[in-house]
Amino acid sequence: MNKPLRIALTKGRLEKDTIGLFEKIGFDCTAVREKGRKLILPVDGGRIEVVLAKANDVITYVEHGVCDMGVVGKDTIMEMQGKFFELADLGFGRCKFALAAKKGEKFYGGYGVKTIATKYPNITRNHFESKGMDVEIVKIEGSVELAPLLELSDGIVDIVETGTTLKENGLEVIEDICPISARLIVNMVSMKLRQQEIEELVELIDKNLKKD
Ligand code: PRP
Repeated sequence: MNKPLRIALTKGRLEKDTIGLFEKIGFDCTAVREKGRKLILPVDGGRIEVVLAKANDVITYVEHGVCDMGVVGKDTIMEMQGKFFELADLGFGRCKFALAAKKGEKFYGGYGVKTIATKYPNITRNHFESKGMDVEIVKIEGSVELAPLLELSDGIVDIVETGTTLKENGLEVIEDICPISARLIVNMVSMKLRQQEIEELVELIDKNLKKD
C-alpha cells in the first residue's frame, strides 16, 4: 500500500467538522473519535493519516511538505500567506473579519491616528492601507474585545461569528472586512506527485459537500 496521504487538521471545531465530512464520505474515523491525547491518527483503515495541529502550524506543515494537505481557516491563510494551493472552500467554519468598536462611538470621527488591537496585524494593515488610512496596530493574543474596554485601542479587527462576544461586551461592528470559512490546502510538490489520489479525495469531498 502507498504511504498514507497525510492531512493536517486545525484542532477543535474545524477538526470535528472535517471528521464529520469524512464520515459522510464513508471513511472509518474510529481512531480519531477515540483519540485520547494522540496527535497522529489513521483514517479509513490507514489510507489517510490525520495530524492534529494549531492553525498556524497546519500551514507550516503543509508548506514544508511534511503534510500533503491541510484544513485551515481562511483567516489564518490571509494572515500567514505562504506557498501552497488552496483547493476547496469546505463551507464550514463560516464567520467574518470585522472592524468593531465601542457601541455608539464614531470610529471614523476625529483626526488622531486610531489604534487597533488584533490577533491579525497583516490583515489589519492591508485593510487600512487599502483605505489609505494610517493606524497604529497592537498585537493581542486572544480575547481582543478587552482592548477597547481597557482603553488600549479605539477598535479591534477580529473574527465575528454569532456576534455574541461583541454584544456582551458593549461593542458593535463598524464594518465587515471579508467572509471566512475553512479551506483545503495542498502542498505544491504533493499536488504533482500524488495528483490522482488528491483529486479523487477532493472529488469525494466536493460530492459530499453538495449533499448538504
Ligand atoms: C473568537 C473571536 C471572538 C469570538 C467571536 O475567539 O476572536 O472573540 O470567537 O465569536 P462570536 O461572534 O460567536 O461571539 P475565540 O473563541 O477563538 O477565542 P480567543 O479570542 O481567545 O482567540
